[in-house]
Amino acid sequence: MKQKSDIGLIGLAVMGENLALNFESRGFTVSVYNRIHPERENAVDRFVNGRGAGKNFRPTYSVKELVESLERPRKVMMMIRAGQPVDEMIGQLVEFLEPGDVVIDGGNSDFRDTERREEQMEKRGLLYVGTGISGGEIGALTGPSVMPGGSPAAWPLVKDLLQSAAAHLEDGTPCCEWIGSGGAGHYVKMVHNGIEYGDMQLIAESYALLRNYWQLDNDAIADVFAEWNRGELDSYLMEITSEICRRKDADGSWLLDHILDAAGQKGTGKLTVAAALDESDPLTLIAEAVNARFLSAIRNERIQAASLYKRENIISQTAIQTEALRHALYASKLISYAQGFSLLRRASLHYDWNLDLGMLARIWRKGCIIRSVFLGQITRAYEATPSLENLLFDDFFRARIQDAISAWRQVAAVAIAEGVAAPCMTSALTYFDGLCTTSSAANVIQAQRDYFGAHTYERTDAPRGQFFHTDWNETGGSASRIYNV
Ligand code: 6PG
Repeated sequence: MKQKSDIGLIGLAVMGENLALNFESRGFTVSVYNRIHPERENAVDRFVNGRGAGKNFRPTYSVKELVESLERPRKVMMMIRAGQPVDEMIGQLVEFLEPGDVVIDGGNSDFRDTERREEQMEKRGLLYVGTGISGGEIGALTGPSVMPGGSPAAWPLVKDLLQSAAAHLEDGTPCCEWIGSGGAGHYVKMVHNGIEYGDMQLIAESYALLRNYWQLDNDAIADVFAEWNRGELDSYLMEITSEICRRKDADGSWLLDHILDAAGQKGTGKLTVAAALDESDPLTLIAEAVNARFLSAIRNERIQAASLYKRENIISQTAIQTEALRHALYASKLISYAQGFSLLRRASLHYDWNLDLGMLARIWRKGCIIRSVFLGQITRAYEATPSLENLLFDDFFRARIQDAISAWRQVAAVAIAEGVAAPCMTSALTYFDGLCTTSSAANVIQAQRDYFGAHTYERTDAPRGQFFHTDWNETGGSASRIYNV
């Protein structure tokens, strides 16, 4: 073993352990450290004598020992719970680190915390990287998608480490690239997770329609998903959902039928929606996906409501095929990604990150939870037009949506007529219709605002930027006047 380790890894929960094993398998020597819990078995001993036995791991039992065991400039990666624990660990690390050393946070930290920590570290001459890591436990072990951002001077120091551990595309491109300064890496990972919520909810809605409208059983639904997974909807989440639908419990019944329909969440979806509100960005689909989880969680209220109402379904007249659902799912998914990338574009301008959106889609092609064939088309769209304002303006996607519109409307109509809640698919269509409306009802909103609050409005027959107010309550006709604000 080398005299000094290439990297120190703090936090030996399953993600940390798997990432440590991943680094080691690429030829790096790794010092490992875990906070000591007096009442529990020491995680460091458990690891180096267990999964890490016989490998290039160096056990360390204090932050000081960990830091001293590392090659300079030192690289320390924290794989610990986001929030207070990260601040506490940084507080201990800075006691021993020296200028030029790098601290990497690989958890799902709030990007604002990452920005604050980077500033604090830079004051001490230390470099800070907040990196998104996606792919779950298996990804951490075999190759995740990695989204590092923070102190630009840290990138050349950690590039080899992080790119070696990441997933790789067929042509050898690593699914890890420098995202940008400050909190850019964690922001991008947050939006990745928001998109993940949308994808999961859209597949769940498809499942609900296949079960309730098409009356398919779980095996038949698994077949439909497996079939879709061979085409343009090929994705990791589609693949695992097909497997989930097929899985049997010990007694031979479907396991899925025994899983309680109350969804949990750790909060990154909610953060994505809050970030979109901050950018005034209409991120409707992910917001619906987060709300669908909230609604699922108030199970007792749902049970009460279900007992109070007899819901009369309008049975739809025209039978539609599951092929229509495939189109509706594709179109809705495209809306979700168009919204997610639009948020990234706005955030990039706001925070001056200069995000390369095509590159982001590329590093999500493998390793992460939302990996899919579809992302390849997104990279292509941004490569063709780097300044693309909305993915819906790309020719390929425009043609694909155009193709799907009537099926999409039929599916949304069926969901509403049959009383199957499909908030993401229906709101995606509503967003699309709103986006394609050149003469919306917002004139009414502006008139109302001006009526009760003299908030002024612009006119269709005057240049933008010229504001008018009408004295709505005055009798005897209009009293509009230019109101330059
Ligand atoms: C990933 C996942 C990972 C985590 C989710 C779970 O990219 O590997 O997104 O980060 O499993 O955050 O999130 P929820 O508990 O909020 O569903």
